[in-house]
Amino acid sequence: MKHFFRRVLAALALALCAALLCGCEAKPASPAQPAMVVGFSQLGAESGWRIGNTASMEQAARRWGFGLMLDNANQRQDKQIAAIRSFISYQVDVIVFSPIVETGWNNVLTEAKNAGIPVIIMDRMIETDDDDLYTAYIGADFLAEGRKAGEFLLKKADAMGAEHLNVVEITGTEESTPMRQRQAGFMEAIDGDDRFTVIESISGDFLRSKGEECMRYLLDKYGAEGIDVVYSHNDEMTLGALDVLEAAGLNPGRDMVLISVDGQQEAVDALKEGRINCIVECTPELGESVMAMVDALSRGEEIPKQNHPEETSFTEFDDLSGLAPRGY
Ligand code: AHR
Repeated sequence: MKHFFRRVLAALALALCAALLCGCEAKPASPAQPAMVVGFSQLGAESGWRIGNTASMEQAARRWGFGLMLDNANQRQDKQIAAIRSFISYQVDVIVFSPIVETGWNNVLTEAKNAGIPVIIMDRMIETDDDDLYTAYIGADFLAEGRKAGEFLLKKADAMGAEHLNVVEITGTEESTPMRQRQAGFMEAIDGDDRFTVIESISGDFLRSKGEECMRYLLDKYGAEGIDVVYSHNDEMTLGALDVLEAAGLNPGRDMVLISVDGQQEAVDALKEGRINCIVECTPELGESVMAMVDALSRGEEIPKQNHPEETSFTEFDDLSGLAPRGY
């Protein structure tokens, strides 16, 4: 009876949530009674990666016949917390969320746990001492991504025969997992090699507009001759930086080494044109794996706690002619 009540409530919530949850889109596979109802708190729409990730979740939910209550928090943690609370009161079957930053989730996740609703953390991770607050995590190995970026730089410096390179870093959102780990992995890879000096790290918040601002500031401060390498934590910021460098009459990819992360089509095209030197892949295509987990949970199966998709990197040293369209 309780189960039936939950289903009716969730189905009603799916139909009505556009009105009840600010910015929420209800996309039930069957408006009457989807097999499972997933509440999904997406952190924002700051990048092509994020938009691709949301699309991947929507498509996968449709394919699996699950209802999806989607709330876009527009880069605000308080909105994510409010959305998760709404999902709890609607008694959805599973909560999925991509946390904008790592801390500040213990209370709301304790509420979900007390309500008996499993939580899958997707993409970014949280910092907590209590692993029981979530059922599973699925997302990139961001530390490995940072290392790949650093390893590319070592190879590139060898190929250039460089004696010394000044590196500037444009980082993602402060206190987020990809920001912290992409930085740590990169520093680890180049650590102890005195050919490199990271002269400044500055946050561009994963946004193209801020990537532009950061690059303008860095160019003003150090001049083109003072910067040899730009390591940027995502493609949006890299594309913003690229615009600024080209507007200043420079030839990024040739006069200056550009290293990026993600692999969205526009950046891959720039890599093929020789305007970016390396892109470490971070895939947004997580929807299918998330819905497979939801399905397993619906059948009472255990699911692995930590899950990383396979990822690669694309560099100027690779033959990229056969690379399939990226889709985002
Ligand atoms: O958390 C993944 C990162 O967030 C992606 O690299 C970036 O593009 C997005 O905004």
